[in-house]
Amino acid sequence: MAASSSRSLAEVQRRVSAVHHENDSEEQLHFYDGWAPEYEQDVITLQYQAPRLAASCLASVFQGSLADVLVLDVACGTGLVAQELQAKGFCRFHGLDGSWGMLEHARQKGLYQELNLCRLDQEALPAPSGFYDAVTIVGALSEGQVPTSVIPELLRVTKPGGFLCLTTRDNQSNLRYKSQMQQLLDDLEQRGLWEKVKVQEVGQWERATSEQEATEGSDYISGVIYLYRKTLGVGF
Ligand SMILES: C[S@@+](CC[C@H](N)C(=O)[O-])C[C@H]1O[C@@H](n2cnc3c(N)ncnc32)[C@H](O)[C@@H]1O
Repeated sequence: MAASSSRSLAEVQRRVSAVHHENDSEEQLHFYDGWAPEYEQDVITLQYQAPRLAASCLASVFQGSLADVLVLDVACGTGLVAQELQAKGFCRFHGLDGSWGMLEHARQKGLYQELNLCRLDQEALPAPSGFYDAVTIVGALSEGQVPTSVIPELLRVTKPGGFLCLTTRDNQSNLRYKSQMQQLLDDLEQRGLWEKVKVQEVGQWERATSEQEATEGSDYISGVIYLYRKTLGVGF
């Protein structure tokens, strides 16, 4: 992550608010292309915690050497999740994102062995079934970004017994999305396709973009990290 931030919190809040309220995913991805050079500085200003917290959550379930663990980082952006996972000892990463601008910054990090442009609201994941030991999607499951319909695809590409780490936000304009996502997560569990390992509620996920979006009595929005394990014997 960059060491310093040059823009004021108010400027960053305006930019992030525009991302949160853009419902057309084509426009959203253009927006990310333009944001890519300043994304990492801006998320420091915003006190965005998700990559570090998700990496800790995922690392907590692996024992022994992490050298062989192959991670698919979906909506990888500039690569903050791989960077945090590398600090925990993971070293094999593939990444996907719909913004070439964000992918270019991820490429420059030199952490990913494979990076692919992928529209997650339109295409199947470019990966065989049961391929990855772990799949992450951090900061991208929310209104106007990646639809919940990608979640069964994440499960498909995970090895039986592998782990999935997903995040979403609790801000006012994302509550409907979060509730739909929760229903889908529960449904997949009731169908025996995966089991819930951990749910971590995070009060200070990032600075809110406005008072309306903030948790009452706070300047922050809250968020959630879900960790699931794909059931052994699930063949797709
Ligand atoms: C807030 S960033 C999160 C990036 C990274 N995971 C992190 O935590 O820093 C959301 C990412 O999702 C990607 N994204 C949003 N909608 C997408 C879509 N429909 N298809 C593919 N990628 C999408 C954006 O390009 C962006 O890189």
